[in-house]
Amino acid sequence: MSVPKLCQQFIYGGDYNPEQWLDRPDILEQDIVLLKKAHINTVTLGVFSWSVLEPQEGVFRFEWLHKIIDRLYQNGIRVILATPSGSRPRWLAEKYPEVLRVREDRVRYLYGERHNHCYTSPVYREKVAVINRKLAENFKDHPAVMMWHISNEYRDECHCPLCQQAFRKWLKNRYQNIDELNHAWWTTFWSHTYQSFDQIESPSSIGEKGLHGLTLDWKRFVTAQTTDFMCHEIRVLREAGVQQPTVVNFMNDYTGLDYYKLAEHVDYVSWDSYPTWHHKSDVLTAFDTGMQHDLMRSMKQKPFLLMESSPSSPNWQNISKVKKPGMLMNAALHAVAHGSDSVQFFQIRQSRGGFEKFHSAVIDHYGGEDTRIFKEVTETGVVLETLAEIKGSQVNAAAAVIYDMESRWAMESAKGPRNEGLFYHEAALKSYQALRKNGLNVDVINMEQSLEKYRIIAAPMLYMFRAGIEEKLRGFVQQGGILVMTYWSGIVNETDLCHIGGTPHGLTDVLGLRSEEIDGLCKGETNHFLPLGKNGLFMKDRYECSHLCDLVHLDGAKPLMTYAENFYKGYPALTVNNYGSGLAYYVCADAEMDFYLDLYRNIIAEQNIPPVMDSIPEGIEISSRTIKNTEYVFVQNFTEEPICIRLPNEAEILFGCYDGAIQGYSSVIYRKKTQLPQK
Ligand code: GAL
Repeated sequence: MSVPKLCQQFIYGGDYNPEQWLDRPDILEQDIVLLKKAHINTVTLGVFSWSVLEPQEGVFRFEWLHKIIDRLYQNGIRVILATPSGSRPRWLAEKYPEVLRVREDRVRYLYGERHNHCYTSPVYREKVAVINRKLAENFKDHPAVMMWHISNEYRDECHCPLCQQAFRKWLKNRYQNIDELNHAWWTTFWSHTYQSFDQIESPSSIGEKGLHGLTLDWKRFVTAQTTDFMCHEIRVLREAGVQQPTVVNFMNDYTGLDYYKLAEHVDYVSWDSYPTWHHKSDVLTAFDTGMQHDLMRSMKQKPFLLMESSPSSPNWQNISKVKKPGMLMNAALHAVAHGSDSVQFFQIRQSRGGFEKFHSAVIDHYGGEDTRIFKEVTETGVVLETLAEIKGSQVNAAAAVIYDMESRWAMESAKGPRNEGLFYHEAALKSYQALRKNGLNVDVINMEQSLEKYRIIAAPMLYMFRAGIEEKLRGFVQQGGILVMTYWSGIVNETDLCHIGGTPHGLTDVLGLRSEEIDGLCKGETNHFLPLGKNGLFMKDRYECSHLCDLVHLDGAKPLMTYAENFYKGYPALTVNNYGSGLAYYVCADAEMDFYLDLYRNIIAEQNIPPVMDSIPEGIEISSRTIKNTEYVFVQNFTEEPICIRLPNEAEILFGCYDGAIQGYSSVIYRKKTQLPQK
């Protein structure tokens, strides 16, 4: 038995569920033939196999999995093997009801669905340990198994008595004594002071919902408990002798967990990307998806994996749109462009029944190779093989957007200037998109990461300052960095208490101002930014803003634009302050996209920051990966029409058709020699 040296190639394949077809050996054999034809080199197995692997408590059936993994290996296909904890067997819930989750209104779920298990339950942990250990013993030395996929899309929370106890213990550890907690949560408000940790209950719609400190700590606890559960799973594998790397799969912009915390304990971060292609502008969808790719890469500052994506339409979005010709490959290369070392689909073979029977697949119900999707999967497989030299390369980003989950939790659960939408994601996306459209690679980081390698930091709506971010930002600007901070920043501390003495807390001197009031605008209500004199920065003389308008008191900063309407007409709307060798901009309101495009265009030009590519036409997305002094530039058209574009003279085309234009839904990848940007 031998496999080709796949470590040199991009991982290409997807979730495969042979346990659904054990009574059809003919189909399983046919699958192998088709996988090879499609140039698929890897499959993910076992994500939902628990009830087949352990049909009754303590009764194990591994022969079928051995057979399949052996057959795959004989055919040069490797395996990412999953622990099955994402969906447990019926017998387990029946015999041990404590494994079933309890909702926030204290109702215990019946058996059903998936991701419906308590992460605290000692029984669940023990049963997961048993099956994981068995899997490890069976497959740890199998040469086909290249990686361990830990559970599936950890998510949601449980409010059972066991979780309540664990929460109290976690709080006690955090605060040591109840007075500290009362102060941190400001419980004298509404007379909610606790006398002991035993009185604490998780937030509930039939109980406490108004204590923001409690809500925030509960979310932190849920992340800590999920992380602890994941580490338990990994520990069992390692103790049983597993040596291969581990990977966890995340979801799109999921706010139930702080993924950074989980990422620390696995070797690879991966995610499952299901954008709503063709529902609205694909260009916007591409930027939105690109931001998630960049977030996944930034967590470990190394290549991530695209663990799942849809070959054509998923079946669970409101409308299931098939991917137009070219989109499959474009979406695959998009992930690679942003730092993925894999392209994986859900699902390899379409299930016949159940919730996902109409979800697209590499092999559909018809089962042949002469389908449009199968052909596009095959073409993509061939292309990825030709791009193997790019695997493992890095994305060098001159700019970063700070996008922080803890701050988001605090901001979105507070009652504040706008309770029908703060548009945090949208605000971050505007900065992200503007930086990318102006030709820069962008990292999407949280407040704990180092800022040292960047030249521009965008800090949209950084509501909570934590992890010493004030000091890091101060040092960053002091040493010549460009900070663009916006309204609603530096308002609360790590326990969600409002800062006293002026905000953005600790940075008023760096920004040369303090925020005095913030006006919430009604739906549809707008104001405008107007240039103040000859600021030299802007192309347009009027930009719309909405949602939130900060009224600031200047103390050294220079106003560049002012508001056009309302009683605060003439108040600063955009300011800049010189601090150390750097500049600190402050954007007072939720300005339209064009504003950010123009702002960053000017900053990038003024600072001489070399873009990956100049003059990027609308509809094109640029991203690059670098290895030593070779830069691979991905130029992708996310519209249906050809777009004319001038590639640099030194561009050596590695892939794609280029005749002065790039065709609709297609990509060109070129190589060039480079020097890394110096700060
Ligand atoms: C993912 C999940 C897969 C499958 C897929 C369908 O979120 O991990 O198991 O359900 O969605 O799009």
